[in-house]
Amino acid sequence: MSAIRIDGKAVADTLLAEVGQDVAGLRQQGVHPALAVILVGDDPASDVYVRNKVQRAEAVGIRSLEYRLPANTSEAALLERVQALNGDASVHGILVQMPLPAHISEASVIQAIAPHKDVDGFHRENVGSLSLGQESLVPCTPAGCMRLLRTVLGEDGLKGLHAVVVGRSNIVGKPMAALLLQADCSVTVVHSRSRDAAALCRQADIMVAAVGRPAMIGADWVKPGAIVIDVGINRIATPEGKTRLIGDVDYPAVAPLAHAITPVPGGVGPMTIAGLLANTVKAARQQTG
Ligand code: GUN
Repeated sequence: MSAIRIDGKAVADTLLAEVGQDVAGLRQQGVHPALAVILVGDDPASDVYVRNKVQRAEAVGIRSLEYRLPANTSEAALLERVQALNGDASVHGILVQMPLPAHISEASVIQAIAPHKDVDGFHRENVGSLSLGQESLVPCTPAGCMRLLRTVLGEDGLKGLHAVVVGRSNIVGKPMAALLLQADCSVTVVHSRSRDAAALCRQADIMVAAVGRPAMIGADWVKPGAIVIDVGINRIATPEGKTRLIGDVDYPAVAPLAHAITPVPGGVGPMTIAGLLANTVKAARQQTG
């Protein structure tokens, strides 16, 4: 039996349609949700991400402000830009695209963003609220993974399941574990120093892979009947001299034994931008309500 292929594009389109309706409602009340996106330097992958974020924002009626700063921008100049946006009441969300050039402290920049405008959910105030189970702006990718899991399991279906998160990044692994715990899962976080990571993963009813290593999770890492969410987006060279995207999960090997699995591309990826725009609307509502 082959797994349910979780269609992230379709789920993201539904969320984007909801966001579009929310934006239209706010605009009728005289509030035009606005998202500022800052890119420092010319990293090609970041350039594509930022372009997509801005295009998608505009497609749902969110005003976007794009700041492209040169790679040699000083930390002080970037912080000044963030402070100006913090003080601008017409801007509801601020996103600084990571990674930043090495001479700029990402932590300092994240902490400089006003927590109520932190649509990435990276500020320690939002991280703290999430870990306390309090209302906050939640990081977009893990929030998207939760939505995908609920499309398979229903609203309460995660309760009591064993979830294994592979990877402990601040952007995905840690907030993912917090959200799964909030949904009453038993949560294990597996990382590069874990002993026998494959054996821990084989206990998972739900596995979320976020390590950034192409096809690392093979069939021997997955319990038959598990639900597998693949956050990895890895660009690899093909024998024909081109490149293609693959996830952290070896999809052809794992799909035959999973209950449900996200493809790459077309799984978690589309959920991230949809989540960002949903956070922008939430931030606009909180700031103007
Ligand atoms: N770089 C890669 N993913 C992200 C993200 O979710 N937010 C920001 N700001 N930068 C990123």
